Amino acid sequence: MDDLFDLCDCGGFEDDAVSDLPAQSLPLIGDSAPAFSAMTTNGPIHFPGDFAGQWVVFFAHPSDFTPVCTSEFIAFQGILDDLHKMNTRLLGLSVGSIPSHLAWIRAIREISDVQITFPVIADVNMDIARSYGMISPSASDTSAVRAVFVIDPNGTIRAILYYPAVLGRNMDEIKRVVVALQTADAFTVATPADWVPGRDVLVGAPSTTDAVRRAGNMADWFLTYKKLPESEINAKIYKKNTGRTKK
Ligand code: BEZ
Repeated sequence: MDDLFDLCDCGGFEDDAVSDLPAQSLPLIGDSAPAFSAMTTNGPIHFPGDFAGQWVVFFAHPSDFTPVCTSEFIAFQGILDDLHKMNTRLLGLSVGSIPSHLAWIRAIREISDVQITFPVIADVNMDIARSYGMISPSASDTSAVRAVFVIDPNGTIRAILYYPAVLGRNMDEIKRVVVALQTADAFTVATPADWVPGRDVLVGAPSTTDAVRRAGNMADWFLTYKKLPESEINAKIYKKNTGRTKK
């Protein structure tokens, strides 16, 4: 989609310069999230420095003023408070310019009464999108795919969701990913299929007869469930946000 609002000199590129762009690569789970500085709708940011000590849900979307993206922005704003309670910041990105993002955010407020408050990066020259593998190699244009990177306070990528343009993301799943990762870290457990807080978690196989006796719900040596009350998770995870970010 043409960016009708790209009126500023924000570092855009000429068509014949596209081939000079660095090749993109998709960082993997366990990798350090690539560092960057960027202009956002809330001002300049430096990643990861501005987000030290916090989890980050960093998502890309293909285009401003498009229907799926609009529905997603409203939905992302809807989970912002829950994410903040989990010491998690939300950061959006698209290849559109700041004027385009601001005009779209204003239009969203007018049609839905929802004010988008999370920062949205203007990645006009696609440097950041390329460093995160957010440009689909098979796409006909240079729009970003619907990628989500969940990044922990150490700046390590812990989960990646990767959706095509026609498929809007599920906010409950994004929140579930964050709480599951934080639960796994806080309690040294794993979470089974379809887990949500309050359901049993999984622990490693016991290695002594005593541990077998004490083991919770052992279906077999390789599948041991353990109760983890939601209240215990809440006490550890939903604490007052003590992060240092200004955004
Ligand atoms: C959308 O957000 O609706 C959209 C964006 C890019 C391609 C197709 C759909």
